[in-house]
Amino acid sequence: MPQLSNRTAQFTDSVIRRMTRVSNQYGAINLSQGFPDFDPPAAVTDRLAQVAHTGPHQYAITWGAQNFREALAAKQRRFMGIDINPDTNVVVTCGSTEAMMCAVMSVANPGDRVVVFSPFYENYGADAILCGAEPTYVTLHAPGFGFDESELAAACAQPGTKALILCNPSNPTGHVFTLPELQTIARLANKYDLWVITDEVYEHIVYAPHQHVYFASLPGMQARTLSCSSLSKTYSMTGWRLGYVIAPAEVADRVKKVHDFLTVGAAAPLMEAAVAGLTLPQSYYEDLAALYAHKRELFCGGLRDLGFSIVEPEGAYYVMADVSALETELGYASDEAFAVDLCRKVGVGTVPGSCFYAEPENRFVRFHFAKSDEVLTAALDRLDGWQDKMRQA
Ligand SMILES: Cc1ncc(COP(=O)(O)O)c(C=O)c1O
Repeated sequence: MPQLSNRTAQFTDSVIRRMTRVSNQYGAINLSQGFPDFDPPAAVTDRLAQVAHTGPHQYAITWGAQNFREALAAKQRRFMGIDINPDTNVVVTCGSTEAMMCAVMSVANPGDRVVVFSPFYENYGADAILCGAEPTYVTLHAPGFGFDESELAAACAQPGTKALILCNPSNPTGHVFTLPELQTIARLANKYDLWVITDEVYEHIVYAPHQHVYFASLPGMQARTLSCSSLSKTYSMTGWRLGYVIAPAEVADRVKKVHDFLTVGAAAPLMEAAVAGLTLPQSYYEDLAALYAHKRELFCGGLRDLGFSIVEPEGAYYVMADVSALETELGYASDEAFAVDLCRKVGVGTVPGSCFYAEPENRFVRFHFAKSDEVLTAALDRLDGWQDKMRQA
């Protein structure tokens, strides 16, 4: 038979989603793939029940239903503090996953370089490869997970560099980029004439005193930013697959074309129902942040009490735990083997940190804590004595 494409041979299946399957295999509490076990707001699910009877059930406009784009633009204008035209600046996609792919495809030619911070959300490497672009990785240094300015400048200066991907708040590190860090990125984006593609799906899950600053809101940056995000995390609806790109009109036009031929459109009935989420009051977002602050306290505090060496997240709902001491003691060749044994022997599913890194880095496993308090407490109970449980055959 003829050969399959080279580009699809260059990346593996998602390790995150693989760990969900491993968790299921061992009956482990799955704290690997990051999705909530609670429902979207009642206003949204009530509206979904009505929409089942009233529709729409057919294709919406390819770049998103008018009322959805209007509600989204109004909400994001409020939070981002920038002018957003729902007709010309917004493209609704099937999750931020598609938004990011459309964004990279819209700015990068085969052979262009794209700067990606490492560790990074797995999809970015595959996004770049599928577009024929070459990622240049810049390390986010543990434990704070900030970057070294000279390393970033060297990456941006590489010939052929076209764009930078910024995940803020960051998955997997939980780092919320500070204003000075963002200003450094902005200065380099100007100097080297780069597009900045942001992934801001955790924009509303940030822990005080940290604050989320939208990259597009920095002086002069709206013109060179493709802001990608989604409703998945903000409204606990990861299965609805509703995301978006907000970009300057001429950029959004390109994104619309890519999106049109990739997926035609996001689900029309779900867009209709989700308008009820986009129009929720400010208190909804405050309650969401408070809910996750409580879960962070419960889970990260619990991990610390059990002897885990963790990096306290500033945003998002993940925590990286440094398990290298036990990995070394027990002679694990990889963190993936360690994570599989954590499912098997302890009964808790995590993601081996190496899958987020371009560099060889096996120190961490990543837990997520977007779960009910009962599930988090049950996971902590299982993790009690984790080192001894891991030492057993
Ligand atoms: C940083 C980041 N971006 C994108 C996604 C996927 O988002 P969506 O459900 O909108 O495709 C995730 C999901 O975990 C994520 O962590």
